[in-house]
Amino acid sequence: MGTHRLRVNGSWHEVDLPDDTPLLWALREDLGLTGPKYGCGVGACGACTSIVDGSAFRPCTTSVADAVGGDITTIEGLSRRGDHPVQRAWVEQDVAQCGYCQPGQIMTTVALLAEHPDPSDEDIDEALRDNVCRCGTYARIRVAVKRAAC
Ligand code: FES
Repeated sequence: MGTHRLRVNGSWHEVDLPDDTPLLWALREDLGLTGPKYGCGVGACGACTSIVDGSAFRPCTTSVADAVGGDITTIEGLSRRGDHPVQRAWVEQDVAQCGYCQPGQIMTTVALLAEHPDPSDEDIDEALRDNVCRCGTYARIRVAVKRAAC
């Protein structure tokens, strides 16, 4: 057990949790940030994908102790009104079906576009390869990524 000081969405937070607690629990249960979703818990589905220091990462396999010192952004931190360019592209392309995986898809895309502002189909496929969508929205996701890149 310990106190962990986390920087999330531009604010500092302290959580009292065992060091090995998955960051995803702290985000969802302690900070009330339920945008990052629990899918697999082992880093395989991408539903929890968030951003730390500009790169996509998986809070389900990152401990709260390891998250200390990182500048963490969840989907709630992208914009105050849900109108980040990637979120707008998702709405305009009507990407979501059930929607459960979409926060992770969006956060992976935000990190992708920061690195590749004009991504190729291969860049998109590579970046989003491990973000699973049970509804099969992959074609709409690819169009939305390109729209957000414009
Ligand atoms: Fe984190 Fe599946 S819940 S990758």
